[in-house]
Amino acid sequence: VGLGVFLGYQPGEAGGFEWGFEAFATHHFEHDDAYGSGARTGIGPLLQLSTVGLRDSRMSLAVQGGGELSPGGAALTGELGLSYRMGEHGGLGIHTGITSELSILNAAFRYQWLLNEAWIGGGIRYVPSYTSLAYYEAVPGRPFRTDRGRVHMSSAERLRAGDRRAAVDCDELEYAGLGYERDAQLECASIPAFLQLARELERHDAPQVLVTRALAAAADELHHAKLCADLATGYLQRPVAPVWPNVPPRAALAGSDGVVQLAVESWIDGCVMEGIAAAQAAYAARECSDRTAQPAQRVIAADEQRHAELAWSILEWALRRGGEAAHAALCAVRTVDAPACRPESALAGVERYGRPDARALDRVACEQLELSRKRLDAVLAARS
Ligand SMILES: [Fe+2]
Ligand SMILES: [Fe+2]
Repeated sequence: VGLGVFLGYQPGEAGGFEWGFEAFATHHFEHDDAYGSGARTGIGPLLQLSTVGLRDSRMSLAVQGGGELSPGGAALTGELGLSYRMGEHGGLGIHTGITSELSILNAAFRYQWLLNEAWIGGGIRYVPSYTSLAYYEAVPGRPFRTDRGRVHMSSAERLRAGDRRAAVDCDELEYAGLGYERDAQLECASIPAFLQLARELERHDAPQVLVTRALAAAADELHHAKLCADLATGYLQRPVAPVWPNVPPRAALAGSDGVVQLAVESWIDGCVMEGIAAAQAAYAARECSDRTAQPAQRVIAADEQRHAELAWSILEWALRRGGEAAHAALCAVRTVDAPACRPESALAGVERYGRPDARALDRVACEQLELSRKRLDAVLAARS
């Protein structure tokens, strides 16, 4: 959801400088990617109030939809709706428009059919239409990537997976159970991620030991999904089972592009994300006193650490194989941010079930990211 202001010129007899305010919402389609490997697309409502000088006001209600032309880059959005102009030259019109955005700045051309009004101008939108302020799910791991980027849980899966924001109403056990139900789903998404990784490593003739380790990691993630589902079942007193993400795998990139992609994704998805997942699970285990949750968090912490190490091994191999191009690509993505945790409403006492609050997890993530970045710098320095 965002707000904007705009200013432009409407030619013609009744024209002049026209300025106004707008409010909009954008539903992002599911394959959005917080880490820059997929351009975002979306659709949503748009309300504009404007006035020519201080006289004839116009109100438009429209549907707007479009997407980024490149990940995090310029975006193009179309608008279609109804418009009502008050005053002497007033009446009902059909609102059409096209807006191009770059960060918070935009330029637009709009035409009100039946009213015969053209407008050209620009403005500021905050937040930009395709910026995702979505929080990353707590206790992440390796995400599954398709041709369109990192796959997020769909709204339906989220609902099934206990994404109840109004957690204030639940007791400790229910709160912890809903958290583990969501984690079971996220762990499940890491299974196809590792199978895909194994296939892509094979395709690029990576050492067999890396392929074997990726397959073993897929088995670990299946175990994690089961551990989390069992905890959720126990806490919620109803059967919980993770759902396999229903999305097609991507076509592997051929040649050096594929090796560079493996280098970059090993850094982001493995060295960073699984490193953070390991550190967060280790923290959760330390804070936890529940007899079932603590051993589960310990197992997850140890496995995620191994998965992070696998990512470092793949990164080193990809650097050797990919040479200058892989080196340059890694330099470009070394500043990736730590994903922020979903701000679960703080409920005292849930750490004991292995559910530390989001602020503590964010702190752990930032510390871990710093360590990973230093290690990457050392790896890159050794090869430059
Ligand atoms: Fe995992
Ligand atoms: Fe993992």
